[in-house]
Amino acid sequence: MHKSKIAGIGMYVPSHVVTNNDLLKYMDTSDEWIQERTGIKERRYAHRTEETTTTMGVEAAKIAIERAGLTAQDIDFIVFATICPDYYFPGCGVLLQRAMKMKDIGALDVRNQCSGFIYSLSVADQFIKTGMYKNILVVGAEKHSFGLDFSTRGRNISVIFGDGAGAVVLQPTEDPGSGILSTHLHSDGANAEILAMFNPGTHANHWANGEKLADFEDAEVGEMFMSHAMIDKAQNFPNMDGPAVFKVAVEKFPEVIMEALHSNNLQTSDLKLMIPHQANLRISQFVQRKLKLNDDQVYNNIQKYGNTTAASIPIALCEAWEQGKVKEGDLVCLAAFGSGFTWGSALLRW
Ligand SMILES: CC(C)(COP(=O)(O)OP(=O)(O)OC[C@H]1O[C@@H](n2cnc3c(N)ncnc32)[C@H](O)[C@@H]1OP(=O)(O)O)[C@@H](O)C(=O)NCCC(=O)NCCS
Repeated sequence: MHKSKIAGIGMYVPSHVVTNNDLLKYMDTSDEWIQERTGIKERRYAHRTEETTTTMGVEAAKIAIERAGLTAQDIDFIVFATICPDYYFPGCGVLLQRAMKMKDIGALDVRNQCSGFIYSLSVADQFIKTGMYKNILVVGAEKHSFGLDFSTRGRNISVIFGDGAGAVVLQPTEDPGSGILSTHLHSDGANAEILAMFNPGTHANHWANGEKLADFEDAEVGEMFMSHAMIDKAQNFPNMDGPAVFKVAVEKFPEVIMEALHSNNLQTSDLKLMIPHQANLRISQFVQRKLKLNDDQVYNNIQKYGNTTAASIPIALCEAWEQGKVKEGDLVCLAAFGSGFTWGSALLRW
């Protein structure tokens, strides 16, 4: 079986910078609160009409493909992770395939929220290992700014998220010492509602334990998926119990990082860099302390971009690589936790 390696990496963030103080015009919040609780100073918002999740993914993909020494025509499979798709369906994968004039290759959309990139990387890794594909494009991209509640009601969520995209090209490698050493994926749906966007959806309050997650017309058919009442009652925005997410995140991040290291007979001191999904700087710092990692063993950039969900890991990895913090032979651990809950890790030798 082949191993897979990252042959090219790219990122794209919109040029429009939104500071914490910029958010004051929409909601009751403060720069102090946001920085203290999350570490975030600013984030990027996509152009309202000229940029979409897919177009940002395309920009990141172009760089990754060029750095791999390929053209879009060489790509033989696409995996696209996002929770902010341009359309409810079809997914962003086919829109990227069209925009980049690729061959009629397979395009898979992954919906695993904050761990979407790790899940996508793992899927791509399996296809490379079996020899099914040779040049797989893996993209994580989000245009959160289009779907958040910018009133004070939604401030616990809206201040956290930002827009952007990252992409890698995976290829087989013959070098037994380099490439993706392992991926570990997990889920626990017991707390699915703790961090979720319920609508539009077909749940019909089935999972709600008597709570009303969606108001829809009582008719036998029609106006159920997205009703006027849902919009009137602001049921079309994401929901999050932040402290509950925090509690599980700081447990699962270290667990899945240690799982990756143990399964490869490695330890934390072997790590050149750990790149956690950029959920909250306090979560990353907690994980760092728990694993006794040095400051230069952990890469954070949430201060500049906020939480970009499926895009956060490839953006951070790309920046770290561009800054010379990841070099050939370095051991890098990517780890994510998020809505679902889903979590996972990928251990790689660069
Ligand atoms: C969301 C998060 C930053 C909130 O921080 P927290 O310290 O847990 O704060 P709480 O939610 O307990 O809220 C504390 C107070 O701040 C207020 N608050 C919430 N958002 C605010 C904002 N943007 N500005 C000002 N005040 C805010 C709350 O209303 C609450 O006020 P109250 O005490 O009067 O009721 C934090 O819980 C978190 O990061 N959790 C993890 C979330 C995450 O990572 N999600 C992404 C998926 S991985």
